[in-house]
Amino acid sequence: MTGELSPIDKAKFVAAKRAVDYVEDGMRVGLGTGSTAAWMVRCLGEMVRDEGLRIKGVPTSTRTAQLAREVGIEVISLDEAKWLDVTIDGADEFDGDLNLIKGGGGALLQEKIVATASDQMIVIADVGKEVETLGNFPLPVEVIPFGWQTTRALLEEMLISMDVLGREVTLRMNGGTPFITDEGNHILDLHLNRIGNARQLSMVLNQIPGVVENGLFIDICDAVVLGFGDGRVEVRDINEGTVEQDRIDFVESDNLFADLDD
Ligand code: 5RP
Repeated sequence: MTGELSPIDKAKFVAAKRAVDYVEDGMRVGLGTGSTAAWMVRCLGEMVRDEGLRIKGVPTSTRTAQLAREVGIEVISLDEAKWLDVTIDGADEFDGDLNLIKGGGGALLQEKIVATASDQMIVIADVGKEVETLGNFPLPVEVIPFGWQTTRALLEEMLISMDVLGREVTLRMNGGTPFITDEGNHILDLHLNRIGNARQLSMVLNQIPGVVENGLFIDICDAVVLGFGDGRVEVRDINEGTVEQDRIDFVESDNLFADLDD
């Protein structure tokens, strides 16, 4: 089955497979959203089923909640968990300080709340997500629907004084209608090309009325598990200052690799 996976999917899978080593029996685990995070949820489900791992999972989106339940992970709310041992999630971009752009899947709000309420956030990514400077991936900003065009105008005005290369702001669509997040909001994508000062931009964005949260994750991620298409993984820990190399052997498992449509 793995022979049918593209190199990028293999990279995502091996990153996820290595990252679940952070999860121990009895932990409360934040479950990220996206195609890489879906591999991680599948891997955890396999450990629950085959190894008797007991965990409680806090999903960051309705689709992750659905997948987690399907694979047998006990799902609880963040308020039930109160605090999490670890969150494992994907990212759209990460830089050398392990600052991130997230929200490509539109789940940045719950993802940021859950990651911030965790002892550790582990990011799983393929090599294509690594950048020198954040900003090539359009920065998602979640805004409330009320007056979103006014919010967009305020954003565009604010960007004039920011250290960015592009200033186009687009409303994310889902077919012919605006994309709606799990919280009932819209997403504005900021096409900035290069973000000179991500920390400053994140703070300024969240000052604008109508903005709920932005997709910059600054000082939240503790380690990145980077996957490669040939099975290699690299674990970069920003707190320990360590870089570890590892290799994941593919083991065919129809349950794990079947029907993954995220
Ligand atoms: C969802 C996210 C995802 O983690 C991000 O978009 C990466 O997704 P993928 O693993 O599918 O590339 O932030 O809101």
